[in-house]
Amino acid sequence: MDFGSGTGLLLSQIATHVGEITAVDISASMNGVLQSKMNAIDCKLQILELDLTKETLNTKFDSIISSMTIHHIENLQEIFKKFYSLLNDNGTIAIADLDKEDGSFHTEDTGVFHYGFDRNEFLSIAENTGFRHLKIQTASIMDKPTGNYPVFLLTGEK
Ligand SMILES: C[S@@+](CC[C@H](N)C(=O)[O-])C[C@H]1O[C@@H](n2cnc3c(N)ncnc32)[C@H](O)[C@@H]1O
Repeated sequence: MDFGSGTGLLLSQIATHVGEITAVDISASMNGVLQSKMNAIDCKLQILELDLTKETLNTKFDSIISSMTIHHIENLQEIFKKFYSLLNDNGTIAIADLDKEDGSFHTEDTGVFHYGFDRNEFLSIAENTGFRHLKIQTASIMDKPTGNYPVFLLTGEK
């Protein structure tokens, strides 16, 4: 599952490595753009329009990936618990998001609950949820006119 899949930038890179992806996004317009690219995505793709903080799914996944979405989620502990419950045993997470920033990353703050994260705190929440073999590392640095914004990648296993 790609949580907060948007227009599919991340999942289109992952598609060649897996059999099937479930794209979950609250936004009809994002899902519409992804739908229009469906033929270019190299695996089976299911697109679901839902708010994972309020609803859930009856399926279990082998892996949950997410890029640049968690800073839009208010309650981190709850979303990690949701991820945990949606994974098969030994299922994995790979979650990328911003390091703490001064609020300049977004030009408008609508739907932004966190100006990035402290890596140690982020990892502790995943650990408290029950995830193991956790590792956090720098995935990339986003270069914008307002500054350079490091992006971390947290990986772990149920
Ligand atoms: C910054 S975009 C990232 C999109 C994509 N992962 C990428 O890296 O290009 C964040 C996405 O999360 C989605 N989103 C925010 N809150 C959500 C929620 N509660 N449930 C599902 N999707 C959500 C938004 O609609 C948006 O498409």
